[in-house]
Amino acid sequence: MARTDFSTNRSYMPAMSFVAVMILAAGMLSAVHVIHAADPDPLQDFCIADIAAGPTANGYPCKLPALATTEDFAFSGLAEAADATRSAMNGTATLAFVREWPALNTQGLSLIRLDINPGGIIAPHTHNVATEILYCLEGEIYTGFVTNNFGNDPTISNKVYAKIVKKGEAFIFPRGLLHFQLNKGKVPAASLNVLNSQNPGIQLMPSAMFGSGIDREMLERAFFMDETQVAALETIFQS
Ligand SMILES: *[C@@H]1O[C@H](CO)[C@@H](O)[C@H](O)[C@H]1NC(C)=O
Repeated sequence: MARTDFSTNRSYMPAMSFVAVMILAAGMLSAVHVIHAADPDPLQDFCIADIAAGPTANGYPCKLPALATTEDFAFSGLAEAADATRSAMNGTATLAFVREWPALNTQGLSLIRLDINPGGIIAPHTHNVATEILYCLEGEIYTGFVTNNFGNDPTISNKVYAKIVKKGEAFIFPRGLLHFQLNKGKVPAASLNVLNSQNPGIQLMPSAMFGSGIDREMLERAFFMDETQVAALETIFQS
């Protein structure tokens, strides 16, 4: 009986070290996963996107490196304030993503310039694949983000972290979380925002809800609204 137990224990030892190796391997894989939590690393110095060729599985094909010019690496599209009144919300986001600036392809970065008139907003939105830092260039911007539900822990679920950020100050929006901007000042506000993806995506909540054509019954019940109220918002966001 004791012998059997002993032999069982002996055969258990290699099994234990197999488990240890698997745990180690899993740990290494998750470390690799952390390293690749943003856009993939480039495999060459640069890969100016050939936008006309269309997106591939991940990013755009490169134009021939020999055809790259200094101007490909420069971008002036954020130099001037945009006219915020062209947005019904009196706040405009000017994008420098890979489509606007093809040299961003494979580099894992992009920019947004916000121009917001007094009282204007950038409505609550997400960039599902990017972390973002806002740097205030002018004015006073009330900005912040809302957390996940964190397993319904009420102390940290759906919690807002927000403040008024002034010229020269910065704020970070953790990856993928809902965030927003409102000009609380008396003069136009502007910010330069950096995102760690060449193509962060933008999902504006009002448009996603009331501009997408979701069945009205869903919206009525989700927001405790009647059909007339839903229809009024659809008129705004479906145009
Ligand atoms: C937008 O901002 C401008 C400049 O502050 C202001 O004159 C205008 O009334 C605003 N429009 C709306 C719809 O709030």
